[in-house]
Amino acid sequence: MLDPDLVFLNHGSFGACPVPVFEAHVALQRELERNPVEFLGRRSAGLLRAAREALGHCLGAQADDLVFVPNATTAVNTVARSLQLQPGDEVLATDHEYGACDATWQRVCAEHGAVYRRAVVPLPFQRERFVDTVLAQAGPRTRVVFASHITSTTALIFPVAELCAAARARGLLTVIDGAHAPGQIPLDLDAVGADLYAGNLHKWLCAPKGAAFLHARPEHHERLHATVTSWGYAEQVTGHSGFDAYLGRTVLERRLQWQGTRDITAFLAVPAAIQFQQTQLGPAVQARCHAQAMALMHRVAARTGLPAIATDADFAQMVPLAVATADGDALRRRLFEQHHIEVPVTHHGGQHFVRVSVPGYTTAADLAALESALTACGV
Ligand SMILES: Cc1ncc(COP(=O)(O)O)c(C=O)c1O
Repeated sequence: MLDPDLVFLNHGSFGACPVPVFEAHVALQRELERNPVEFLGRRSAGLLRAAREALGHCLGAQADDLVFVPNATTAVNTVARSLQLQPGDEVLATDHEYGACDATWQRVCAEHGAVYRRAVVPLPFQRERFVDTVLAQAGPRTRVVFASHITSTTALIFPVAELCAAARARGLLTVIDGAHAPGQIPLDLDAVGADLYAGNLHKWLCAPKGAAFLHARPEHHERLHATVTSWGYAEQVTGHSGFDAYLGRTVLERRLQWQGTRDITAFLAVPAAIQFQQTQLGPAVQARCHAQAMALMHRVAARTGLPAIATDADFAQMVPLAVATADGDALRRRLFEQHHIEVPVTHHGGQHFVRVSVPGYTTAADLAALESALTACGV
């Protein structure tokens, strides 16, 4: 559905929704509007359960350990607010985290007198050193380790399964921001082993906007609380539950799923997105996109003389092209306004990057257009 006059290379920020998935979403919205009471009141818990079953099947997880949320930011906020940090506790993140999640932890830590520390993960990236580098920056009061599965500004795949295992061995709780992982890399949540994992479905799984999830290992369900208090809390507060049919039966469903009247159809369209992914965007397409992204990275690096920040195996379908510019925002505006290319320019450690996303619909011509535009912009 993308504007054909646009070269859209920013799937990583807001993924494009394919026509069949969009149509499945609209069909669900129409169905809802035929009888909103039936759909939201009587059927929603069952419909959401079925969608979670499909998601769990796709992500190597139990449906009961998953809850739909509108975006990864909400999932990270839910977790940060639920942990009941104590004064002096420390949350250890990396210096590659996404700004909104970084801000969430900073705010929550400040409110509780806790410390938010960013472990420096130096570039060029050295995968085999990652876990030791991060955990060497933990202190005696570190309680939580927070890291992206795939980073936003630098597009690196962090070895989070290894990080979670090592952190667990030290008694640290792990929270993984998987905003870019589902649909971009094979993901088995049980194998990752994070205590809590936030994932987006509206990026690389190509679900409609407003579809994301929080995965929690069973031992953490009781400690999780919604940022919006609703009917799932009524029983404990007033002694009667009310609207039981809305709520489902597990603690995650009851507390986190019903958040007042809202449009749940993006969640319910997730099985359609999974089907599209499996039939149209499977491993062969992912491998082709990865190869295209890496070839682009090496061509641009050879031209600019600015080396890649990591090896090919450290990236999937997003790639950071190092560029020599003092004003990243001006470059982004120029690429959009003069060349109709939608691509973000990120910044890390004093270096700007044109962060290119290569989803299944990206063509060689799109990437060639970017390369010519970069040359025309003098970077
Ligand atoms: C690493 C990372 N985490 C979290 C998010 C937030 O995603 P959302 O806006 O869907 O909450 C993003 C968005 O780009 C991201 O790149």
